[in-house]
Amino acid sequence: MKKLLVELGDRSYPIYIGAGLLNQPELLSQHIKARQVVIVSNATIAPLYLDKILKNLLKFDVETVILPDGEQFKTLEYVTRIFDKLLACKFSRNATLIALGGGVIGDMGGFAAACYQRGIAFLQIPTTLLAQVDSSVGGKTGVNHPLGKNMIGAFYQPQCVIADADVLDTLDDRQLSAGLAEVIKYGLIRDIGFFEWLENNINKLLARDKNALAYAIEQSCLNKADVVAEDETETGVRATLNLGHTFGHAIETGTGYGTYLHGEAVAIGTCQAADLSRRKGWLNDADVERIITLFKRCNLPAYPPEEIDSDRFLELMSVDKKNVNGQIRLILLTKIGAATLPIDVDLNSLKQTLNTYGR
Ligand code: NAD
Ligand code: GLY
Repeated sequence: MKKLLVELGDRSYPIYIGAGLLNQPELLSQHIKARQVVIVSNATIAPLYLDKILKNLLKFDVETVILPDGEQFKTLEYVTRIFDKLLACKFSRNATLIALGGGVIGDMGGFAAACYQRGIAFLQIPTTLLAQVDSSVGGKTGVNHPLGKNMIGAFYQPQCVIADADVLDTLDDRQLSAGLAEVIKYGLIRDIGFFEWLENNINKLLARDKNALAYAIEQSCLNKADVVAEDETETGVRATLNLGHTFGHAIETGTGYGTYLHGEAVAIGTCQAADLSRRKGWLNDADVERIITLFKRCNLPAYPPEEIDSDRFLELMSVDKKNVNGQIRLILLTKIGAATLPIDVDLNSLKQTLNTYGR
């Protein structure tokens, strides 16, 4: 087992990465300070892993909230179901919430924990590759709104993250690929060595080679933990983790939540950001091709959906947390392995990308 630390002073917490971690009761229970525990999961994951977790929690009073599965349920309405259970069971402020699932459950569970009685402890047990390499780490929690992705939320750090590589055995190939989009992101924004490693090892990852997966998860979490420790609430460098996300969120919102997986939308958005970086003169044609090729090798889409034209893209992109005074701001690449902070983009170049890249 590897143990990394997200260093945030008295709110620092460990990320445990390894195989068979869900069979180690102490790993989980050492982070639970009182008897009341609620596990939040969904209808797909609970039948697979809930019993395993319950077996580790025999000395606690455990309630469960099983939500429907899907990005379209990542809403305030469904978070309320968690509050309903906590209140009906008279859970108090020292209760602990365990989010058992992918990024949707982690974001919703974390948000419920942040809000319930102004904050109860929560633990992340991420079960998708995307959640293990990104969403479970760093304390971004929240829900979608029909007008914008992740627009309602809070920064709220977990007590620990337990990333058991074995749970990825039941994850389908499309979801595995979606997770790889966020893995590639770390290489692109800050780690050229990791990007090159990914180019050389992507087939192993797709074939679910356990050592390769463990390495990719660890390197991703190391990168994310570094960035979060430097800038927890995204006043600066943390925004680079959003490479491609403004385009990607527009695709998710514009096509209806759940049509494109988050990682798929991010893959397309990253290629659009790369095209715009080329127009700035920072990347050359070969760089952009190299990026597109890596996403394609992961069986990820690289071109935007036809149904969203450039005007619609602009409208959707105008609802984004990085925007200031209505001005669209984007993360671009200055080279493979380095990203800008959010920058104002000139509308003509952005329109050129939206009108020509992949059209
Ligand atoms: P997800 O949570 O919808 O999970 C994907 C699918 O896999 C679901 O159908 C789920 O039920 C299923 N699943 C999960 N674990 C499984 C397993 N072990 N075996 C079989 N099936 C399993 O999607 P995701 O890609 O994990 O997360 C995407 C969400 O994460 C988006 O809402 C995105 O906005 C959010 N996100 C948040 C952050 C953050 O920093 N908080 C970062 C990136 C993404
Ligand atoms: N996934 C982006 C962030 O955590 O900041």
